Amino acid sequence: MKSELYEVTRNSSMAERPRRLRRLQALRALVRETRVSNSDLMYPIFVDDRISKRQEIPSMPGISHLSLSDLASEIDEVCALKIPSVLIFGLPDRKDSVGSRAYADDGIVQRAVQQIKRSSPELVVATDVCLCQYTDHGHCGIIHAGEIVNDESLKLLARIAVSHAKAGADIVGPSAMMDGQVKAIRNALDEQSYYNTAIMAYSAKYASSFYAPFREAAESAPAWGDRRSYQMDPPNRREAMREMAADIREGADIVMVKPALSYLDIIREARNRFDTPLAAYNVSGEYALIKAAAQKGWLDEERVTREILVAIKRAGADIIITYFAKIAARWFEATTQ
Ligand code: PBG
Repeated sequence: MKSELYEVTRNSSMAERPRRLRRLQALRALVRETRVSNSDLMYPIFVDDRISKRQEIPSMPGISHLSLSDLASEIDEVCALKIPSVLIFGLPDRKDSVGSRAYADDGIVQRAVQQIKRSSPELVVATDVCLCQYTDHGHCGIIHAGEIVNDESLKLLARIAVSHAKAGADIVGPSAMMDGQVKAIRNALDEQSYYNTAIMAYSAKYASSFYAPFREAAESAPAWGDRRSYQMDPPNRREAMREMAADIREGADIVMVKPALSYLDIIREARNRFDTPLAAYNVSGEYALIKAAAQKGWLDEERVTREILVAIKRAGADIIITYFAKIAARWFEATTQ
C-alpha cells in the first residue's frame, strides 16, 4: 500500500536540501565554518597584593584573587591547558589620588609579570593599563576640580605601560578610554626602546552594566559619578568604528570590543572594516549570568558556553578574553569538535 508520505518522498526533487549535510556528526564537522580552540583564548587573572592565600570572588564562581605565591600554580595550570595568553589585573596594597602604585616598579602587576616571565617565558603576558584599581576615587583618570582630566591622565597611563613593559609584559592593554592614550603609550614605549611591546587597545569599550562583578572583584567602582564621560554610550555603532580607526592610526596592534555578547554586531563590523587583529572581552557580568543560571540548573553550562564562545569567534574576534578559558580548554581537550 502506498502512503501519501511515500509518494512525496519518492517524487520530490529538490536542489537545496541543507539537511543532507546535517545527518551525521562527522558530516557536520566537515562543513563546520567556525571552531574555537584553546589557542583563541586569553585568561584574565587578578593578583592581589594584600592577601596571602587565594580568595574566591563571590559573584564570579571559579575565579579568585590570587596572591603572588598562588600565581605560580595558576600559571602552571594555564600552560598545561595550552592557553596561550593571560591578562593581568592588579589589586594594590594601597590607593591614592594619582594611582601611584599602578606604575611603581615594585607594584603588584610588575612583580607578577616578572614572576610569570621567569617561570614561563613562552606564555603571552598582557596587562591591563588603567588607573581605577589604584585611585582612591576609583576613576580611570586623574581628577582636577571635580573633572576627569584627559591629557594629564595620559602621562600616568604612559608611565604605567612603560613600567609593565619594563617588567616584561608582551602586550599592554590601555583600558581607561582617555583620548590619545594609544599614541601617548606608543611614544613612551618607543622612547624607552620598548619597540616590541604590543598595544591591545580597549578601543570600543562601552559604559556597560555588565562590569559589575569585576568592579566588586577589583574594588574599582567609582566613589562618585560613573564612567559615562569616558566610556562609550551603548547605542553607538558608528562611533565605535571611529574609536577603532583612531586607535589603529595611533599605533594599536590589536583593537578590542568590550563587552562581547551584547556587542556582536560591533565585532562583526570591525572585522569587516579593519585588518587589525581583533579581541573581544567576554566580561564578568556575562560570565556571572551563565554561572548563576547553571547553578540553578536552568542552563547547561558547557553547552551554553561553547555556543557563546563560538558566537564571539563567528562574529569575527581573533582573540577571546574570557573567564571561561580554563574550563573551556578542558572541554576542548576532552572532545573533538
Ligand atoms: C578597568 C576595567 C574594567 C574591566 C576591565 N578593565 C571595568 C570598568 O571599566 O569598570 C571590566 C572587566 C570585566 O567586567 O570583566 N578599566
